[in-house]
Amino acid sequence: MTTDIIAIDGPAGSGKSTVARAVAERLGWSVLDTGAMYRAVTLEALRLGIDPLDSDAVVGVALAANIRTRPRVSINGRDVHDEIRSDAVNVAVSVVAANAAVRAAMVLRQRALASEEPGGLVVEGRDITTVVFPHARVKIYLTASLDERARRRGDESHESVARRDHADSSRDASPLRQADDAIALDTTGLSVDHVVEEIILCLKNTTSN
Ligand code: DC
Repeated sequence: MTTDIIAIDGPAGSGKSTVARAVAERLGWSVLDTGAMYRAVTLEALRLGIDPLDSDAVVGVALAANIRTRPRVSINGRDVHDEIRSDAVNVAVSVVAANAAVRAAMVLRQRALASEEPGGLVVEGRDITTVVFPHARVKIYLTASLDERARRRGDESHESVARRDHADSSRDASPLRQADDAIALDTTGLSVDHVVEEIILCLKNTTSN
């Protein structure tokens, strides 16, 4: 079975999570927040006292982890929905996300989750349009100015958002970049509804087969 997929990538605070949820709700589709998966692995490694730079130990955590993202984020049965947004995770997650073996494990899971999905799926992250689902029905690259993105991130500082963006775009393993055939949407000053409409329009303009 082939699941219909809308893939959304973009930097922190570009609106991916909010927009992905809203698009999924409009369509009656499911949503997959892949950033939450990297955050859950990071939190679990920190909880076990593992140095995020200890590549092999972190991969061990990733391979053994049972991660759920809905209705709340959990890892190995422990609810971590709120804890994965902590400063400690904000700092360490880009190191974990730069680990190629962790990425390989997450990509396999994301594809497996999609294949089990009975309906359509909206997936958001950093490598969804380029690596995980390069043949998604709709591919979107969301951006917004750094000021607006930092404002949207609320508790997270301007510096922390900028540092994470730099780390995510400059790493060797699947760096954040706009896929050649992704549609770029700058959400600066746009309402969620406006962005959702644009994405639904993109979907309508594709032919399902
Ligand atoms: O979207 P977010 O801020 O929750 O993502 C957390 C971190 O995980 C961020 O530093 C980028 C990384 N990430 C990634 O490398 N690949 C993904 N598909 C999703 C997130």
